[in-house]
Amino acid sequence: MKVTISFGGAMMVPEKPDASTILSAANVLVSLKKRRHDVFVVVGGGHQARVYMQQGVAMKLSRAELDKIGIEVTRLNARMLIAAMGKIAEEEPPKTVEAAVETSFRNKIPIMGGTVPGHTTDAVAAMLAKASRSDILVIFTDVDAIYTKDPKLYPAAEKIQEMTTKDLVKMFGKIKREPGMKLVVDPIAAQLVDKHNIKTLVLGKSELERLEEILNGAEHGGTTIKPVS
Ligand code: UTP
Repeated sequence: MKVTISFGGAMMVPEKPDASTILSAANVLVSLKKRRHDVFVVVGGGHQARVYMQQGVAMKLSRAELDKIGIEVTRLNARMLIAAMGKIAEEEPPKTVEAAVETSFRNKIPIMGGTVPGHTTDAVAAMLAKASRSDILVIFTDVDAIYTKDPKLYPAAEKIQEMTTKDLVKMFGKIKREPGMKLVVDPIAAQLVDKHNIKTLVLGKSELERLEEILNGAEHGGTTIKPVS
């Protein structure tokens, strides 16, 4: 199976890099590769990206500059995961989704951060899923699923177990993104997932070790987003 995985920065680097989560992610990726799955990976910026961007705002940097700083942090986080993986990962984080797809032809796992200003790594992951013709996109976040409202702000919010890509666009597709904004799925990613009919799972960290079972159809506590056929 071809699978594109987006590791949210908030999960990998909540306050600082979370060594145990990075090592577990590396183990899971190595094991998927050994079982002959093609894996494509994107890592987010997390708290550190926001720390840099807040200071950039204080310096009155432009949106494009803020985004570029965010991108560098995502690449630094990608490098942490690359270092944990050893030779099975491409040594440098690819800068484009096309370069990431080429890497897989050399039988290496590409682990990339962001690409260009204007979106987040979720959107990069949706582009990579499309470019690599992945069967599925998996988005790991610090929340365990998509909820009817942000569960951190609204404790009564309910978990959505299944939705269509159209529902995803209704929920997130129209939001105006600001650099460093915190959303489970960014608006551009939502639109791409719908446009390209990409089956997507939104999962929490607790499902990381079960990823292969879940890809093989096991139940999970996240949200399944299905294209409308
Ligand atoms: P993230 O993908 O980490 O965004 O990129 P996020 O919404 O904060 O996600 P989590 O918390 O990691 O899950 C960090 C910032 O880097 C810039 C954006 O400003 C984004 O908010 N960025 C990232 C880009 O401009 N382009 C990219 O391709 C990636």
